[in-house]
Amino acid sequence: MTNHLLSIEELGADGIREVLQLSHTFVEVSARAIPRVPALRGKTLAWLFYEDSTRTRLSFETAAKRLSADTMNFSVGSSSVNKGESLRDTVETISAMGVDCIVVRHGSSGVPWRIREWTDASVINAGDGWHQHPTQALLDCFTIEQRLGPLDGRHVAIVGDIKHSRVARSNVEAFTALGADVTLVGPRTLLPPSLDGWPCKVSHDLDAVVPSADVVYLLRMQNERMNEALVPSMREYSMGYGMTMERVGALADHALVMHPGPMNRGVEIAPEVADLDRAVMVDQVRNGVAVRMAVLYLLLGSGVELPVEGV
Ligand code: NCD
Repeated sequence: MTNHLLSIEELGADGIREVLQLSHTFVEVSARAIPRVPALRGKTLAWLFYEDSTRTRLSFETAAKRLSADTMNFSVGSSSVNKGESLRDTVETISAMGVDCIVVRHGSSGVPWRIREWTDASVINAGDGWHQHPTQALLDCFTIEQRLGPLDGRHVAIVGDIKHSRVARSNVEAFTALGADVTLVGPRTLLPPSLDGWPCKVSHDLDAVVPSADVVYLLRMQNERMNEALVPSMREYSMGYGMTMERVGALADHALVMHPGPMNRGVEIAPEVADLDRAVMVDQVRNGVAVRMAVLYLLLGSGVELPVEGV
């Protein structure tokens, strides 16, 4: 792994496997009575979240604490960003205080690559616009392999608002890098205008795809990224593309239902489906901490011994 985690493409299949392999160690650490190891003692991380987040930010914070790193609690909403400070000045300011890693979420695609030019710190992309969300893809790969074994040869259906989804872009790259077949499912209006370069199939008929899926991965309708109505109504969308109990009945026994959160129960997923054992959203969140610990350790922990059991 290099000094940064910006996209799944840059990480590559070997990098993905390296993170997943190491994540098992941190699942074990997280299950201890005192889930903390000294691996990143003396390292400082800063959060730069220009977009809302619950899971991703709390997950990174928990991961950093469990590795004994220090964190700089920068909140965009109460910072000089509100006084017009530029992104570059903000990055240079926090870098000057001595920070080893900047975790950034921003509404514009490509921002983490700009930040990399302005700082010596490692940069982690926690979501840039519609573009990438690599740690989400890694925790999703880990969760699938934990439940079903290797992704190689598995069929994953990604359903819903693909067009606006950085999760879809990262996950397609990660799932296919590990050998899975991916089908994107949604109405034409919610698919990207061109699917050139997307290594996957496309379907507009969820019922045709469900029986052969090992994983149905649902996405939220990202209304905040739409400037026009792309579906006639939420009710019609749910009828065509929502995961209902009826559709669960057509799934293979072992098949999983996944969602990156936040879920809109009753839109892309029926409330009772979200509570089934095969709906692994809680595993996704739990594994997210271990996977982010692995990422932070690989980026910042070189030379530090691995926190094996009992340390
Ligand atoms: C996603 C995101 O923000 O990209 N959520 C997440 O990080 N778990 C998906 C979304 O907002 O729908």
